[in-house]
Amino acid sequence: MNIIETSALVKTYKAKGGRIHALDGFDLAVAEGSVEALLGPNGAGKTTVVKILATLARPDAGTAVVDGIDALRDPKAVRRIIGVSGQYAAVDENLTGFENLEMVGRLYHLGVRRARERAAELIDLFELTEAQNRPVKGFSGGMRRRIDLAGALVIRPRVLFLDEPTTGLDPRSRMAMWEVIHNLVADGTTLLLTTQYLEEADQLADHISVIDGGRVIADGTADALKAQIGGHRVEVTLVHAADAGRVQGILARHGAGQVTSSSEGRSLGVRVDNGPAALQSVLGELNSSGIALHDAGIRRPTLDDVFLKLTGHKAEAGADDDELQEAR
Ligand SMILES: Nc1ncnc2c1ncn2[C@@H]1O[C@H](COP(=O)(O)OP(=O)(O)OP(=O)(O)O)[C@@H](O)[C@H]1O
Ligand SMILES: [Mg+2]
Repeated sequence: MNIIETSALVKTYKAKGGRIHALDGFDLAVAEGSVEALLGPNGAGKTTVVKILATLARPDAGTAVVDGIDALRDPKAVRRIIGVSGQYAAVDENLTGFENLEMVGRLYHLGVRRARERAAELIDLFELTEAQNRPVKGFSGGMRRRIDLAGALVIRPRVLFLDEPTTGLDPRSRMAMWEVIHNLVADGTTLLLTTQYLEEADQLADHISVIDGGRVIADGTADALKAQIGGHRVEVTLVHAADAGRVQGILARHGAGQVTSSSEGRSLGVRVDNGPAALQSVLGELNSSGIALHDAGIRRPTLDDVFLKLTGHKAEAGADDDELQEAR
């Protein structure tokens, strides 16, 4: 059964030079108990989708249904079963971490004692013990993300929306956050998350919808999308730029596309179908030709590669800073 369904969502915003089509016929179906990632660049429409499903914005046209409830007709009923955390985070800067979580519990009518119990459980779960009695305004970015996510979990939602849960986190905090999210969904919560990172979608999601210009331009499992994008890239960095010509020839023989090189010619790369096998044979040949390397490796496709392949254009920021402020 699909616990989230949208059909033909349209949302436009007035802007200086006319109207911005934030969503332009957006369709989505998410199976109960699964993790869905909306993957797309700045301005693709990710936050707009989350806001509509979380009843924080209304579309101009189309339908949005969460757990069988029409989000446009009965937003209150939807709010009772969802948790949401994101770019528009509503924490009170002057309250402490603990007080913020307690306040969310009270907003959900948990009662003082239960609200405090739940706040304490979440402080534990998110390892915020040291921060719990400090005002949120002094929190680091990573602590903010955690308190924000904790806030979304106060009522153990059936459906959880996380808008860019790890943007701005350092690699260690990002991995810790992935771990927390993994554990959360293990108990059957349906999760819709947005991200700009293919790797994040890959780590967390059962199914990915790639969005651009307010609509889904491709979808499938991470493996299926990557197969569509085309395997890996092999990249090497030379000690001597003079070797570039020979290396170009070797890469061309093993690659499945055009060999690209950096402007000063020392770094070269090519798309390959089987990354590890191609890297091994390229290294073998470079070694027997006596070519010295600074660096060599295989790289997974990035979001830029996905976009280049799917749309023929680069994933460029679609919103300037003013608009972003407003969208937050
Ligand atoms: N309140 C608003 N007023 C005007 N334009 C808006 C508003 N909210 C969003 N937009 C515009 O709608 C488009 C989609 O925005 P949205 O915030 O959904 O993108 P996003 O995919 O979440 O981007 P990001 O990765 O930057 O968060 C953008 O062009 C944005 O500028
Ligand atoms: Mg956004």
